[in-house]
Amino acid sequence: MSEDLAALAAATEAALAAADDLRAWDAVRVGVLGRNGSLTALLKGLGQVPADQRKDRGAALNRLKTSLEAAIEGRRVALDGAALDARLLAEKLDVSLPPRPGLPGGEGGIHPISRTLEELTALFGAMGFAVAEGPDIESDWLNFSALNIPEHHPARQDHDTFYLPAGADGRRPVLRTHTSPVQARTMLGQAPPIRVIVPGRTYRADHDATHSPMFHQVEGLVIDRGIHLGHLKGCLVDFLRAFFGIADLPVRFRASYFPFTEPSMEVDIGWSRKTGELGKGGDWLEILGSGMVHPRVLANCGIDPREWQGFAFGMGIERITMLKHGMPDLRPFYDSDIRWLRHWATNPLAPPSLAEGV
Ligand code: DAH
Repeated sequence: MSEDLAALAAATEAALAAADDLRAWDAVRVGVLGRNGSLTALLKGLGQVPADQRKDRGAALNRLKTSLEAAIEGRRVALDGAALDARLLAEKLDVSLPPRPGLPGGEGGIHPISRTLEELTALFGAMGFAVAEGPDIESDWLNFSALNIPEHHPARQDHDTFYLPAGADGRRPVLRTHTSPVQARTMLGQAPPIRVIVPGRTYRADHDATHSPMFHQVEGLVIDRGIHLGHLKGCLVDFLRAFFGIADLPVRFRASYFPFTEPSMEVDIGWSRKTGELGKGGDWLEILGSGMVHPRVLANCGIDPREWQGFAFGMGIERITMLKHGMPDLRPFYDSDIRWLRHWATNPLAPPSLAEGV
């Protein structure tokens, strides 16, 4: 290799070794291979080389180009790797560390969904309700038929159901579209009287600012002798006022339809459509569904409707959480964005207490 080429190779090698970040590396690359780069200049000068030396010189330049390109690329890969290592080290998160309650609402804080679940458990617990649970994958019989939603009933379509492949019985299980199947599970599994709430995940094929394909509901079920609408209304009014922390929160019961209750009622609370403030403003906001358990549902679940009556209700956990705290969008609940979590998380060592108002 002629002297000038050897010198360029050595200079490039030294400059690459000295380049300790991608910016410095890029300056070396441009200085050699760029439009005005040193190697580019040598290639351009090939025309001036006497004809008898041009072939050898050209071949030598090409070899040099190939080796310089390889060296430059090799350095980039090394620098990229080092940058990634540094970043991984800097952003290391030890998920096994215990929560640090010294940081109010910081790492290790309670997610707002979990917080609402704790509040619901405390509130209904004080009214004598136990917590029941059921599986996310449910038979279509429990999700629909037991609840008086017959096959081919339009309500089945309303739910935007996720179906799973059919099992041995030829029937397709579903991702439960509501927590109501746990009503049936509970009645089939224990004798009345029953008083349970059922928090859990639910699924519907729906996605926008206020809908997520996976969301949470809480169901309530009371079965006893002589249960009537007055019990339902008293229970829900007390719950809503305690949960939202507004002693005179207006609550309205509006006749509605659900296949599993008769009569059925949707429940509205008072708020201001303009400011979003709860409790005043003269507007109504639908917040939950409820009703007296349909005698056919009782019978489907082995309970004699002439002896036992009951009421049930169901609502969306995200929805009541958003309303309580004035959150505008549902999607951040599942983004795991540490900034959002820091803002909304609550102290794990301060569980909800009825004495303080949850
Ligand atoms: N399952 C209903 C839904 O997903 C909510 C609901 C309404 C539950 C009325 C109930 C009830 O228990 O009585 O929209």
